[in-house]
Amino acid sequence: MVVFGGIRLPLLLLLLNAAFGSAHHWFNWQYEVGCQSDTFVAPSDEAGVVDFIKQEFPKQSLIKVVGNGHGFGNLTTCVNKGFTNRTSHIVSLTNLKKLEINKDMTVTVGAGWDVYDLVNELKEHNLSFNYLGAMRVQNIVGAISTGTHGTGSKITNMATQVTALRVVDARGNLKSIDEKNNSEELKAFRINLGALGLITEVTLKVQPTYFLKKTTKVLNATNDYNKLYTELSSLYKKHDRMTVWGPHFDWDSKTQTWAIEPTFYASWWEPTNYTGTRNCTLNYCANGCGDCIKDYICYDETSDAVSCAPQGICSSQFYAEIEHFFPMEHFMDVAVNYTKYQQAQTPKMKGFDNDKMIFQFRTLKGDDSYMSPANTYNLGPKDSGVFGVLEIDWMQNTNHWGTLYNNQEFAHDFLNEFGSAYNARSHWNKMAPNDPKHALSVFPKLPEFLKIQERQDPNCQFVNEFLVNQLGIERCRTALNL
Ligand SMILES: Cc1cc2nc3c(=O)[nH]c(=O)nc-3n(C[C@H](O)[C@H](O)[C@H](O)COP(=O)(O)OP(=O)(O)OC[C@H]3O[C@@H](n4cnc5c(N)ncnc54)[C@H](O)[C@@H]3O)c2cc1C
Ligand SMILES: *[C@@H]1O[C@H](CO)[C@@H](O)[C@H](O)[C@H]1NC(C)=O
Ligand SMILES: *[C@@H]1O[C@H](CO)[C@@H](O)[C@H](O)[C@H]1NC(C)=O
Ligand SMILES: *[C@@H]1O[C@H](CO)[C@@H](O)[C@H](O)[C@H]1NC(C)=O
Ligand SMILES: *[C@@H]1O[C@H](CO)[C@@H](O)[C@H](O)[C@H]1NC(C)=O
Ligand SMILES: *[C@@H]1O[C@H](CO)[C@@H](O)[C@H](O)[C@H]1NC(C)=O
Ligand SMILES: *[C@@H]1O[C@H](CO)[C@@H](O)[C@H](O)[C@H]1NC(C)=O
Ligand SMILES: *[C@@H]1O[C@H](CO)[C@@H](O)[C@H](O)[C@H]1NC(C)=O
Ligand SMILES: *[C@@H]1O[C@H](CO)[C@@H](O)[C@H](O)[C@H]1NC(C)=O
Repeated sequence: MVVFGGIRLPLLLLLLNAAFGSAHHWFNWQYEVGCQSDTFVAPSDEAGVVDFIKQEFPKQSLIKVVGNGHGFGNLTTCVNKGFTNRTSHIVSLTNLKKLEINKDMTVTVGAGWDVYDLVNELKEHNLSFNYLGAMRVQNIVGAISTGTHGTGSKITNMATQVTALRVVDARGNLKSIDEKNNSEELKAFRINLGALGLITEVTLKVQPTYFLKKTTKVLNATNDYNKLYTELSSLYKKHDRMTVWGPHFDWDSKTQTWAIEPTFYASWWEPTNYTGTRNCTLNYCANGCGDCIKDYICYDETSDAVSCAPQGICSSQFYAEIEHFFPMEHFMDVAVNYTKYQQAQTPKMKGFDNDKMIFQFRTLKGDDSYMSPANTYNLGPKDSGVFGVLEIDWMQNTNHWGTLYNNQEFAHDFLNEFGSAYNARSHWNKMAPNDPKHALSVFPKLPEFLKIQERQDPNCQFVNEFLVNQLGIERCRTALNL
């Protein structure tokens, strides 16, 4: 079951450092993406962050601030030691553990909080977040910075809960950005991809804890995708807060094809007056795995009803994953064509170690953060502003590198195939392919974001290869030796 979900990343880094000698290795949660820096730095407080950054500015050192590494690509990788003539540092703000419950239904927290611990702490005060991802394994700033989200046509991503934050730029200047004084700038900083500086604390909206009723229903699958997705489409009209876990496919090693499982399931959430025993956490059923394909209802406090603790991660084997956001109006077309396109790739998967393939559907209300995958800036007047979210997981039964590389390669193909047709945007931390031209068309505020990026980081200390290639930060190519 849980492998690394329960271990604090800095601890992991220390252990790895002890094992590997002087180089500092960073890995993501699955250990398939990593980098090697000269140092690992964990300042003890905000002043320590400022001092460190001030000292590194004249040296133009490379600095990658990391959360908990729960991603599927190179967003968070540091620039490898020796790759340029600059020193490469990994910085963790894990020691910044401030917590203030404010009078206006907000909390101010240091960047060291993990979502799981923070949610538990808030519960003690009868408070909760309205918006969470399906998991609570992330660092709070790491989750916000990439636009982590759950499901619901009236629900926005976690970053929209941010009303203020404090950030240290490359010169070591500490700045407060808040809704009242810098409301436009906050739209750039909410989803910042780690590119705008080190965020030392955030102020987030909270609400009194309330109960949700979760209903899980078994659905019948069929190879007639039009029929299958028409049914899902009508379910989405009935339930505004719903995740569909499926369809599920199993690799048939005899025929070397994907066989659709006869059933899959959907869960939806609604308010309730129930105040009895909380029982959603009896079976997390996270990531579409486990004994979850059955009809049941449960009741729980919001965060426990919609998201799960680290124990809910049921697969510790390599998996590749894509997640795309598209205007909900395209739901049928996207669902059918992505599924057919995936099936057309099956011959490429022959002879590898695949086990399961799981589709997942969610919805999300759009927002105005510049780099939000659900940003509404290029939508037309007829669009509802609600996004559909399609995820495909390719899961293995062993950690086989060849299979992973093969899957990662064609994971990137989906956006090239459908990006412009469906106005689709990738999750930043889930196999986003390099395509600055597409990025500009789906993130119309990218030029403004890059202006702020240059102001915050004039010497390209906070960027890496992923950011340069994804966002087209040409001015930083030579600095990174690209
Ligand atoms: C099993 C699994 C399930 C997931 N489920 C969901 C889901 O339901 N919904 C969803 O939207 N996503 C989901 N994700 C993706 C996940 O929420 C995001 O990848 C999130 O960014 C991970 O946070 P982290 O702290 O672990 O990330 P990291 O990769 O460590 O950091 C993410 C980004 O934040 C930046 N950052 C971190 N700390 C700071 C700081 N103090 N200042 C400035 N920048 C900072 C980093 O530089 C990086 O760019 C899932 C991922 C996994 C592996
Ligand atoms: C991450 O970057 C490395 C180095 O450029 C590359 O080999 C690898 O394929 C990348 N991984 C992913 C998942 O994009
Ligand atoms: C590092 O390399 C760049 C070119 O990539 C060069 O302009 C710079 O002077 C070098 N700096 C040092 C300290 O050697
Ligand atoms: C939280 O709510 C419970 C039940 O209503 C109550 O007993 C408790 O005192 C509350 N805690 C706080 C910190 O308000
Ligand atoms: C706005 O900025 C001023 C100083 O520039 C500060 O005193 C004030 O607290 C800020 N407002 C808010 C709402 O934080
Ligand atoms: C699925 O099919 C079974 C019979 O094959 C039927 O009893 C059941 O009602 C169907 N479920 C749904 C949600 O349509
Ligand atoms: C909760 O109870 C109130 C008052 O009895 C009622 O008006 C409301 O409809 C109930 N809500 C739900 C979701 O059952
Ligand atoms: C949770 O409790 C409710 C109310 O007692 C009950 O109806 C439901 O079946 C329980 N669900 C599970 C999964 O145990
Ligand atoms: C989606 O599928 C339909 C029907 O097969 C096809 O006509 C259409 O061109 C496809 N769209 C894209 C963007 O591939």
